[in-house]
Amino acid sequence: MSVIKMLSSISRKTFTQLSRTACYSSSTRTVNYEEKPKTAIVMLNMGGPTDTDQVGDYLHRIMTDRDMIQLPIQSKLGPWIANRRTEEVQKKYMEIGGGSPILKWTNSQGQLLVESLDKLHPSTAPHKHYVSFRYVPPFTEDAFLELERDGVERAVIFSQYPQYSCATTGSSLNAIADFYKNRPIPKNIQFSLIERWATHPLLAKVFAERIREKLALFNENEQNDVLILFTAHSLPLKAVSRGDTYPHEVAATVANTMLQLGLPNPHRLVWQSKVGPLPWLQPYTDDAIKAYAKQGIKHLLLVPIAFVNEHIETLHELDIEYCYDVAKEAGIKQIERAATPNAHPTFIEALADLVMKNLDQGHRVSKQFLTRCPHCVSPRCLQSKEFFKHLCSYNEKLKKDTPDVITLNN
Ligand code: FES
Repeated sequence: MSVIKMLSSISRKTFTQLSRTACYSSSTRTVNYEEKPKTAIVMLNMGGPTDTDQVGDYLHRIMTDRDMIQLPIQSKLGPWIANRRTEEVQKKYMEIGGGSPILKWTNSQGQLLVESLDKLHPSTAPHKHYVSFRYVPPFTEDAFLELERDGVERAVIFSQYPQYSCATTGSSLNAIADFYKNRPIPKNIQFSLIERWATHPLLAKVFAERIREKLALFNENEQNDVLILFTAHSLPLKAVSRGDTYPHEVAATVANTMLQLGLPNPHRLVWQSKVGPLPWLQPYTDDAIKAYAKQGIKHLLLVPIAFVNEHIETLHELDIEYCYDVAKEAGIKQIERAATPNAHPTFIEALADLVMKNLDQGHRVSKQFLTRCPHCVSPRCLQSKEFFKHLCSYNEKLKKDTPDVITLNN
């Protein structure tokens, strides 16, 4: 049943319950490693509270992370904003079933990925995935302590944000450098880094498949006219002006997806989830829905193009706030939302292909990552990139000369 058909016949409360059911339909597999893992796949992401008790700490960590967001007198203002927002955000998590499914999805993806790698790349098997979240457990230190304890020989640090931003992947990588601030870098582990993969052809393929699934819900004679609204988390214009690559990487994924889709539908890229009073990348997703309704465009498909699994920005902001509240008020006739890749087989294929190429290639950290934004003034970025140059060094001499401890300023 289409979202709009549901809108006319059900209450927001029932809609919320439907959304909750959809969100928890995934199952998490139990990982049973009988053999000692040889290769670690460290999956980086921001994470989300698995229950409402975690919401306060989660917001506190985000609001005090200067890589993610910069506020005046952050050590005071950050916790104050986190405290003020906790109750309201807890309510939103209650509306999607009591917590974020991001850990469940990351574990499902990780488990399917390592099973695939064991078959396709036996020379580095057994593989094991480690979840490294930035704002909720399991944290960076949990993942790295575990892989050190497991005695792995190889470790692929793999950002689960396909499009690189200094605020997201950059923050997760700085957290790894922070972790090794006061402890020796394990020289017996060969580390490598996948920090961006916005243009991987299988990523475009899975998004195209997700779009086709939802276009099929529109009347056949309307399908080619549905406006496809690609939506991604916005970014402060200050970060864009510094030279953050995120906007053009998101646009590259959009262009590849449309190419892969091969349909004549019109499309636009819009931005969601802005916080605070400062200017961010526009047009905002909700404003775009309202503006198109005024232009007489009443059939829309929202495609979250920068999220690889469902979480609050898709299940609440898109499904409940935009596809229900905003669309209903604007008079949209039909609006659908494409699913995120989640555990789609094409997506697992994409992850496996990226890791295999990384394991086989000669360089372990890209020049693109080692180059800072033109207007970067952060000493953390400078030191973090220096840290990864050494951590992922292929050159034994450089590795040998690496100081045991590299300090990262706050
Ligand atoms: Fe982008 Fe420092 S802000 S490298």
